[in-house]
Amino acid sequence: MILAGAAAAAAAAAAAPATGAARAAALAPAAACASAASATRRAGPAAASAAAVVSLARSSGLMASAAVPAATAAAGPAVPAAAAAGFATVAPTTATRSHGNLKDSDRIFTNLYGRHDFRLAGALKRGDWYKTKEIILKGHDWIINEMKISGLRGRGGAGFPSGLKWSFMNKPGGPDGRPRYLVVNADEGEPGTCKDREIMRHDPHKLVEGCLLAGRAMNATAAYIYIRGEFYNEASNLQEAINEAYKAGLIGKNACGSGYDFDVYIHRGAGAYICGEETALIESIEGKQGKPRLKPPFPADVGLFGCPTTVANVETVAVAPTILRRGGAWFAGFGRERNAGTKLFCISGHVNKPCTVEEEMSIPLRELIEKHCGGVRGGWDNLLGIIPGGSSVPVLPQKICSEVLMDFDSLRDVQSGLGTAAVIVMDKSTDIVKAISRLSAFYQHESCGQCTPCREGTTWLSHMMKRFEKGNAKSAEIDMIEELSRQIEGHTICALGDAAAWPVQGLIRHFRPEVEKKIAAYQASL
Ligand SMILES: Cc1cc2nc3c(=O)[nH]c(=O)nc-3n(C[C@H](O)[C@H](O)[C@H](O)COP(=O)(O)O)c2cc1C
Ligand code: SF4
Repeated sequence: MILAGAAAAAAAAAAAPATGAARAAALAPAAACASAASATRRAGPAAASAAAVVSLARSSGLMASAAVPAATAAAGPAVPAAAAAGFATVAPTTATRSHGNLKDSDRIFTNLYGRHDFRLAGALKRGDWYKTKEIILKGHDWIINEMKISGLRGRGGAGFPSGLKWSFMNKPGGPDGRPRYLVVNADEGEPGTCKDREIMRHDPHKLVEGCLLAGRAMNATAAYIYIRGEFYNEASNLQEAINEAYKAGLIGKNACGSGYDFDVYIHRGAGAYICGEETALIESIEGKQGKPRLKPPFPADVGLFGCPTTVANVETVAVAPTILRRGGAWFAGFGRERNAGTKLFCISGHVNKPCTVEEEMSIPLRELIEKHCGGVRGGWDNLLGIIPGGSSVPVLPQKICSEVLMDFDSLRDVQSGLGTAAVIVMDKSTDIVKAISRLSAFYQHESCGQCTPCREGTTWLSHMMKRFEKGNAKSAEIDMIEELSRQIEGHTICALGDAAAWPVQGLIRHFRPEVEKKIAAYQASL
């Protein structure tokens, strides 16, 4: 799900018209956006920086006293100035502190495993809806600024800075008479991803409160939560939370007694991966086929029902209330520069205990697996490779997995991506060619067919990969399929084309000998 295309869309919503340029620009604002946070976080010695964090959170009047020590602890020691690198990373590669080991007191999702009551009574005990009215009354500028300070980058896959993205809704000229909408992307179709469903099933009030506050930031009149049709229990718990919130006066007319009116609706999808793409999703809510729109115009100008709209991922929206209560600088205190915050990671495949867990961004991949999943089946040396961010990002071999950090920049530096942070682990029993071939079949099936490079290209990829599985190919076709993937990448309306191309590129980059072996064995068997 979907790195470049979505980032490009959001970046271009700011102005840049060309996809390629927008893509390159997408990460630039991230630096600007994160700089305020990093100023607080990185500028001085640890003590000074910690004090600044606490005082900022206190002055906001929103930080519960219990959170103060947590914030102090969160502010790590100073890190030297960013290294100039030709890669995506601006943070120094030699970090002076390690990341990970998130404390319980710093967890946002405290009912991730559904051990407690998901309803309003339970949510209130966990600190949800605390001082929500006061936050609303602080106004959109304050909320957006705090989100910018937090350094939060979208959790739907593209990683675009959320505060900046949300700010596109408040145009300099003021309201133009059209209602504005927040659309929450709860489609969660990316293979390997299972985090948003946990939020909606076990902690739905976090999302409902997040809708209200993100909606206030954008001056939206309503939120539409587009939920994947298969998520029956999730939709049902979420609807119950919405009903409770209406009944308690937390949303609806005069939400929380703030004078702000805000409605929340659930829209259940009919189950197509492409409906997770933000403009296809908008089409689907409007009752049309879920096919991505050509951009511009971007949703912030012409979105749902022709009105200004921002589409944001469930996790992105659900973390907002805690960020606003504890302060943007608190959140920015986790992870490396430009990679701030805590994050839900979903680890599946050949590990001893697959799980979804909230951890600090920039935790080493190996530590994430060994600490939370009981390690790779058969031990780390039995690891073949990992797809670190959902099926759309390139696979990484064991050697890189041993070193890489789980954040946007570190994974980008090794030519993969954080995506949805869905970590798919494959041990040496895996037929990696077959595994990637299965993904190619998936993308062929899910292509909406509007653009020729995607419609035809995914079909070619899938057919060739099927032959590679058996080895029924010529060696020269390895370079041909690589070239084919380059002809798809960046040449389509939405990022599904890129998502189809990258797994194949990752396979050839790191596992070419596996493909060659299959071809040689097939030739020998003739
Ligand atoms: C084919 C495709 C599928 C996508 N599926 C999802 C999805 O299931 N959930 C999601 O949040 N974003 C998905 N996205 C990304 C969205 O288009 C959009 O970038 C995201 O919802 C923005 O939210 P964020 O800013 O909070 O990350 C998908 C993108 C593409 C191209
Ligand atoms: S890239 Fe593929 S899925 Fe996206 S609009 Fe084009 S044909 Fe449809």
